[in-house]
Amino acid sequence: MPQSLAEMAAEVLCTSDAREKTDLSRRHAARWFAARDGESEPVMIGTATPPLHPARPDRPELLSPRDVPRRRPGSPAGRIALLHAVAHIELNAVDLHWDIIARFSRTPMPMGFYDDWVKAADEESKHFQLVCGCLQELGSDYGELPAHAGMWRAAEDTRDDLMGRLAVVPMVLEARGLDVTPDMIDVFRKAGLTGPVAALETIYAEEVGHVAYGSKWFNFLCGRHDLDPKAEFHRLVRSYFHSTLKPPFNEEKRAEAGLPPDFYWPLSEPASTSG
Ligand SMILES: [Fe+2]
Ligand SMILES: [Fe+2]
Repeated sequence: MPQSLAEMAAEVLCTSDAREKTDLSRRHAARWFAARDGESEPVMIGTATPPLHPARPDRPELLSPRDVPRRRPGSPAGRIALLHAVAHIELNAVDLHWDIIARFSRTPMPMGFYDDWVKAADEESKHFQLVCGCLQELGSDYGELPAHAGMWRAAEDTRDDLMGRLAVVPMVLEARGLDVTPDMIDVFRKAGLTGPVAALETIYAEEVGHVAYGSKWFNFLCGRHDLDPKAEFHRLVRSYFHSTLKPPFNEEKRAEAGLPPDFYWPLSEPASTSG
């Protein structure tokens, strides 16, 4: 039997070397889209049981966020640290998008759901490789600095809840990326570093799509279960996300991704106990 999409997803999740993981991710995405375009044998969705934690390289060393050293963003070391943190986020995102495919492969979804997450996983793989290229040009590489442990927490917390996964991962965490990326681009523009500026601009443009896929499929599932999307979003984020959302929000890009202000503003304050 040819490998199913869920099995391809699990294979990426079980690959520890970052370069191999992202190369495999791109090859699987190409195979999926060739099949979808009718250029090769169809690929079944299939089922798989992904690992609870994806395989990762031995380096970087993973530290609790409070132990990751902070560096001045305007210094060369600070810029390398910033890119290193972005690379780590992108690698985590590769696993997150394949995980949503494998983990929820027993929930019947329209084909467009798989198209969207395969495309997102392919883009994250490209983002990781772009940012690694920038790190190498600055004399560093992914793995040379410590990185945040605990990035997989959102995936673990929502491993049994597809709507919770969509609410927290694309609609909260990836939407946060839209808020912070313009300032990051500025850091590199001020330093005259055109490579990182171009890489971050690609990331910024493509991340809008990932947030949009999240809100599209979240709304779809609310419709399937006859739920009010806004109330359900607030309930799920409050139960799975362990913090409030931090303004300022990028209202422009969030709107482009289908996230209206009344979804996120109420979550920037602690939930009122009076109900
Ligand atoms: Fe990305
Ligand atoms: Fe993304």
